[in-house]
Formats: sequence, C-alpha cells, structure tokens
Amino acid sequence: MSHHPIEFRYEVRPEDRGVVRALVESTGVFSPIEVEVAVELVDDRLEIGAQCDYKFVFAELDHRAVGYTSYGPIALTAASYDLYWIAVDKACHGRKIGQSLMKKTEELIHSAGGQRVYIETSSRHPYAPTRGFYLRCGYHEEARLKDFYAPGDDKVIYVKQLQPLLPPVPLGGLTEPLGQG
Ligand SMILES: CC(C)(COP(=O)(O)OP(=O)(O)OC[C@H]1O[C@@H](n2cnc3c(N)ncnc32)[C@H](O)[C@@H]1OP(=O)(O)O)[C@@H](O)C(=O)NCCC(=O)NCCS
Repeated sequence: MSHHPIEFRYEVRPEDRGVVRALVESTGVFSPIEVEVAVELVDDRLEIGAQCDYKFVFAELDHRAVGYTSYGPIALTAASYDLYWIAVDKACHGRKIGQSLMKKTEELIHSAGGQRVYIETSSRHPYAPTRGFYLRCGYHEEARLKDFYAPGDDKVIYVKQLQPLLPPVPLGGLTEPLGQG
C-alpha cells in the first residue's frame, strides 16, 4: 500500500478515456452502457477543451489515477451543479479516497460560485453502498421519481447546500446604501 498522499489532477488527457473506463468498470456497479456514457464525457471534454461544462477531478497515488469525479454547472440555473460520476478503484475502496474527491470537487464548485450540488442515483440494491456514502458526505435525499429508470427502479436525487459565498449581513442591516460609493 502506498503511503504517499493523494494528489489531484484537473487536466484531462487522451489516455483518460482508458483511465475512466478502467475505474468505472472496476467498481462492478455500472452497466456497459453506463461505462460508455462515462467515457463519452471524457470525449466531449477532450474535444471542447477547458471551456467544456464537464469538469474532472482525478485522484492519483504515485501518479496512478485511483478515482475520479466529473461534474458541471446545470444550464439555466443560478448556482446549481451536477455531480455526474464518482468512482474509486475497487481495490482502493474504504481508504477515504472517495471522501477526499468529494471534498475537493465541492471546493472547486464553491470557488466557481456554485451553491448546490445534485446527485442522481438509482434505488436498486447495488447502489445501496453509494447512497450510504452520499449520506456520510452530508447529502440528503431531496426527491424520488418512482419507476423512473424501470419498474421498481426509482431515481433518487440527493443534494447538498454549500456554504454561501457572501458573509452574512450584520444584525440591524446595512447602514450605507449599496452601490453608492
Ligand atoms: C462510492 C465510492 C466512490 C466511495 O469511495 P470510497 O473511497 O470507498 O469511500 P471512503 O473511504 O472515502 O468513505 C467515506 C465515508 O463514507 C462511508 N462509506 C463508504 N461506503 C459506505 C457504505 N457502503 N455505506 C455507508 N457508508 C459508507 C465510509 O465509512 C466513510 O465514512 P467515515 O468517514 O465515517 O469512515 C466508491 O465506493 C465507489 O466507487 N463506488 C462505486 C461507484 C459508484 O457507485 N459511484 C456513484 C454513482 S456515479
């Protein structure tokens, strides 16, 4: 086991198509079509570049990617973001890599002005550990769309409110009108 700290990488490289495929497949919870969708997000990002709304965080140990998230702003919202994917190499589960990735991703969203992070998942049994992880990371179930994916397979939407960026207005309100100086 490596004793080196996790390092984060945000740049996306052509070899990340294979990196993401291997990470997502290693978890054993995603269907072949879901794996393809995860790789398509990398393709879009590679094609469009850093302006692409699909952002990535890779967690690396000894320069090897052991987990990643992809996320992005939700169009037509003021400050809401989607977390599209989070996956940690199955061999590295339970070592707080997922939690570190989540924290780093939330920091990046926050510093980009995001205030709410949404995650959608399935109600099916294989996703129960993932739902436990989201709760542990401070998310709560906001909505459930019954039979969304298939009969008996609901869409469960989790959300986390990030700290507001602006300092609270002092009690008693502002004494000077804004925008006059
Ligand atoms: C979900 C996932 C990213 C978690 O990553 P991880 O590195 O194994 O998790 P961590 O070690 O960071 O765990 C962080 C916390 O969540 C808790 N947690 C992890 N798995 C859990 C579970 N199955 N049930 C309840 N809590 C869980 C841990 O106990 C830990 O809590 P602690 O701080 O009290 O000890 C990883 O298991 C994974 O890749 N799963 C498959 C892919 C997936 O389902 N992705 C989501 C859909 S896009």
